[in-house]
Amino acid sequence: MKIVAIANQKGGVGKTTTAVNLGSALAELGHRILLIDLDPQANATSSLGLEGMDGTSLYEPLLGDGSITEKILPTERDGFFIVPADLDLAGAEVEIARMPNHLTRLAETLKPLQTDDTFDFVLLDCPPSLGILMSNALAAADELLTPIQCEYFALEGLVKIVRLVEQVRDSGANGRLELGGIVMTMFDSRTNLSSQVVSEVRDHFGERVYEIVIPRSVRLSEAPSFGKSILEYDPNGAGANAYRALAREFLKRHAPLATAPALSQTPASENLEM
Ligand SMILES: Nc1ncnc2c1ncn2[C@@H]1O[C@H](COP(=O)(O)OP(=O)(O)OP(=O)(O)O)[C@@H](O)[C@H]1O
Ligand SMILES: [Mg+2]
Repeated sequence: MKIVAIANQKGGVGKTTTAVNLGSALAELGHRILLIDLDPQANATSSLGLEGMDGTSLYEPLLGDGSITEKILPTERDGFFIVPADLDLAGAEVEIARMPNHLTRLAETLKPLQTDDTFDFVLLDCPPSLGILMSNALAAADELLTPIQCEYFALEGLVKIVRLVEQVRDSGANGRLELGGIVMTMFDSRTNLSSQVVSEVRDHFGERVYEIVIPRSVRLSEAPSFGKSILEYDPNGAGANAYRALAREFLKRHAPLATAPALSQTPASENLEM
């Protein structure tokens, strides 16, 4: 089981959209996925049509009350499960901060999943701030997947994230954390700016940048209000196909964990070389 924190301290860059739709696309390819909504805004939760379920979040397990396994709910898609967020989670920031092992609460909470082997990947949808919840995500994760928007200042934000990963490693909180990948989102093919930003980020970060770039798509922004991932909402559109391609590239980058049938579904015509 691999734990992937989908994180960027900047707001509105496509973290939740990527968590929900990458998760759904990985499940479509036959992988068992758990999405954990770590953001008290609960955007991932409502994007998957779940709302207003007080008591069903990671809040209690994070504070040592009960197990994560009691908080896992199915989604519309086979193999795709979620631990929703609720408003209690906002209070968790303060309460966890008072606990002795406050940086490793999430890592502790995820331990039962490591042993029972139910999931292939756990995706953590992080809030856009460097608070306790995001710190816990970085301390628990094997890698960071960072969506960034194709706009000015993309590089500056990334430099901060690279520093953050180094700090987490150096602090001893999580020596194995890696910046696993950068996903460029909301690419607008009508503007030169988007292409310029992508090539600038590639110049600096090379292979860490995913080949697949997620296009700006109205359908992707509409899907959450219908409580559906893009694969259900607009299964044949550009957004769905982009997230399917992202899922295939993600699996290729995690080849030892990915099963052969999933990889064989990558069309030869697609250039997903790293
Ligand atoms: N590829 C895209 N095309 C068009 N709209 C998009 C795309 N990706 C995300 N959006 C929209 O942009 C907004 C921000 O996206 P999202 O919620 O995924 O970002 P986030 O990083 O999770 O934000 P936050 O920091 O608030 O958690 C949302 O309204 C979402 O629907
Ligand atoms: Mg979000």
